Amino acid sequence: MQFISYGHSCFAIKIGGKNIVFDPFITPNALAGNIDITEIEADYIFLSHGHEDHIADCISLAGRTGAKVVCNFEIHLWLNNQGITNTHPMNTGGQWNFEFGTVKCVVAQHSGGLPDGSYGGNPVGFVFTTGEGNFYYSGDTALTLDMQLIPGYAALRFAVLPVGDNFTMGVEDAIRAAGFVQCKEVVGVHYDTFGFIKIDHEKAKQAFAREGLILHLLAPGESLNI
Ligand code: NI
Ligand code: MN
Repeated sequence: MQFISYGHSCFAIKIGGKNIVFDPFITPNALAGNIDITEIEADYIFLSHGHEDHIADCISLAGRTGAKVVCNFEIHLWLNNQGITNTHPMNTGGQWNFEFGTVKCVVAQHSGGLPDGSYGGNPVGFVFTTGEGNFYYSGDTALTLDMQLIPGYAALRFAVLPVGDNFTMGVEDAIRAAGFVQCKEVVGVHYDTFGFIKIDHEKAKQAFAREGLILHLLAPGESLNI
């Protein structure tokens, strides 16, 4: 699978010819100034929760591309009210068979208000099971024992986990999370964008390596075959 970073927790993965974009937050991100959002193609947009740093560009991207937005029920209603009607509501514990594979919505331990103060429901993570490989995107979350359920759902090729600390897991807990989900290859997200979440890249990679794990930290625009 090809993974491309758009900075912060925004990335895209192509599966079965479909371009799937996660947590679009590009135009407000000073570190993603090299990304032209008008050039991004999307067939699907997956939202982990409603915070600004995960949803800021959702309406413009969904509006231009016509992508189907997959998100929790409250965000689905909020988007519908703003004219984005190609949505697929899910909620924690549920799964659905999409044309590119199966997605299960799993627990994320975080909060989930929307940028205008509307109730945004609960945050979620996603487990993707596809013919091209399986992966887990945790969304913003603390380390949680619920992650131990995930190996029972899918053998993961890689996991996308926050490593920035302060608002989410930091490096040490992301290493424990990799153990819980039984996955040796991690793409780190949710770091460096704001002052509270700056990390030392080399130290983080070395901490993962000491546990026999690989941590990828991609610059915005960088891609990886994984
Ligand atoms: Ni958040
Ligand atoms: Mn966030």
